[in-house]
Amino acid sequence: MHPDLTERILQHLNVSDKVDTLDLVPIFGEDHQKIIGALKSIQAHGELVLAEPTSRKSLELTGEGIEVAANGSHEAAVYNAVPSEGIAQAELMKSSPNAKVGFSKAMSQGWIFVDKSVTPPLVKKKVDKIEDLVMQNLKAVANGNSDLAANVVSEYKKRKLLQEVTTKSFILSKGPEYSLTLTKLETDLTVEMLASGLWKDLKFKAYNFDALGAPPTRGHLHPLLKVRTEFRQIFLEMGFSEMPTNNYVESSFWNFDALFQPQQHPARDAHDTFFINYPSKSYKFPQDYLQRVKKVHSEGGYGSQGYGYDWKLEEAQKNLLRTHTTAVSARMLYKLANQPGGFKPAKYFSIDRVFRNETLDATHLAEFQQVEGVIADVGLTLGDLIGTLYEFFRKLGITKLEFKPAYNPYTEPSMEIFCFHPGLDKWIEVGNSGIFRPEMLLPMGLPPNVNVIAWGLSLERPTMIKYGINNIRDLVGPKVDLKMVEEGPICRLER
Ligand code: PHE
Repeated sequence: MHPDLTERILQHLNVSDKVDTLDLVPIFGEDHQKIIGALKSIQAHGELVLAEPTSRKSLELTGEGIEVAANGSHEAAVYNAVPSEGIAQAELMKSSPNAKVGFSKAMSQGWIFVDKSVTPPLVKKKVDKIEDLVMQNLKAVANGNSDLAANVVSEYKKRKLLQEVTTKSFILSKGPEYSLTLTKLETDLTVEMLASGLWKDLKFKAYNFDALGAPPTRGHLHPLLKVRTEFRQIFLEMGFSEMPTNNYVESSFWNFDALFQPQQHPARDAHDTFFINYPSKSYKFPQDYLQRVKKVHSEGGYGSQGYGYDWKLEEAQKNLLRTHTTAVSARMLYKLANQPGGFKPAKYFSIDRVFRNETLDATHLAEFQQVEGVIADVGLTLGDLIGTLYEFFRKLGITKLEFKPAYNPYTEPSMEIFCFHPGLDKWIEVGNSGIFRPEMLLPMGLPPNVNVIAWGLSLERPTMIKYGINNIRDLVGPKVDLKMVEEGPICRLER
C-alpha cells in the first residue's frame, strides 16, 4: 500500500535531518499544498516535527515568456520574416503583432539592416543564421535550470518575459516527540477514560476553532404564510385592521343565521358543512339580537318580507367548523353596531382557515384559507365596492378585472370577480363580493344609512399560481415536499 503522505514525511526525516518542504515536491511527486496539509496534520499530533517558515525567490515565465519559449523571440520572428531580396519596413511591421519590439532588437543584435541605397529603402538580412538565445534561456528557466546572469534576468524582467515569485515553505526537522508513525488522536473524552485514568496517556485532537460549522437547521415559512404576509401588508397599507379569527368552531347562528341564510339552505346540510358532535350546541347569544334575526327570517321586517318559515333555535345552536370567515365579519359588524359611542366607519380584514365538506380533487381540500375585506360606512355604493376592488387587486399586480352577477344569501347585489391572467392567458375567477343585505345589517343595529361592502377570496389560489403548484395536495397536507417549503423563494407580489 502507498504510505500516507504524513508517514512519508516522517520517514524522510528519519534519513535526512533537515528538509525544505519545497524539495519534497519532486521527491514525493506531490503538490506542495498537499505536503503542507500533511504537515499540518502531523503538527496536530504534537511536536513530532519542527517546521521553520522560510521563503524562496524563484524565476517564472510570464504568459508572454511562455509563448517566446515555445515559438521563439519577437526578434527572431522579425528576422525570419525578412525575405532575401528585402522588404519595406512598413510591410515588415505587419508580419507579427510584436514586430515593433522584434525589429529594434533584431537591429541591435545586428541580424538585419536598412538598405538606404535603394528607393524606397528595404530591410534586409545582415547574417545568414541566427541563434535565438532569448528562446533558449527562457526554455532553460522553464526547465528549472536558470543560472542566468543578473543583467540578463533584469533585461528579461523589463521585457516582461520573466517574473520573480516568492514561494513560502517550511524547513522540517525532527521534533522532541518525533516518531515514525502517527497515533490516532482521540476526539472524545469518555467516562471510561476518566474512570480508568487512561486519559493521561491518550492524545487528544486539538479543537479547530476556525472550522466552519454545519449550518444549523431552522424553521421555514410555508408558501401560504409568505403570501398571507403580503396580503396582510396590502390591507394594512389600505388602512384596514385585522379581525380576530381564532375560532374554527362557530355556531350556525353566526355562520348562517346572522347572515340571513335560511335554515333550509342546502349549504347548511351535513354534506356541505362539518357539524360538531362535542359540544354539539352553543347557548350564549345576544338575546334581543337573536329575536330580531328570528323575526327577519320568519316574518320579515325592515322593508323585507323575509322567508316566511318556522325559524328554529335548535338549528341556530348547532356547532360547526366555520364555512367562511364571513362569520367573523358578522360578529365584528354586530360589535361595531353596538359599541359604546355608537357606530363609527370601519375597515376590517381577515385571513384564516375555513372548512367545507367537499369532494377532494386537485384544486379542492376540505379546508382552505380565506382572505376577506369589509368596509362599513355611511352611503357606500356598488361603485365604492368596484373602486376598492380595483385598488386592492392593483396592489396585487392585477389591473384587468371583470365582474359577473352572482348570488349570496347575505349580499345584494353580489358579484363574482374575474381577472385576466396573462401567464395562463385566460380570465380566472379570483373572488366573490357584494353589499351586505339590510336583512343582515339592520337586525344588528347598524344605522339604516350605513352600507357594508365586502369581498372574499382564497389564499391558496394566488399561492398556487405564484409558486407554480398545480395540485393543492402539493401545497397542503401530508404529501407536501419539505424541500419545496425550505427552498421556496420569499413572496413579492408585483406591486
Ligand atoms: N363568504 C363568501 C365565500 O365564502 C365570500 C364573500 C365575502 C362574498 C364577503 C361576499 C362578501 O365565498
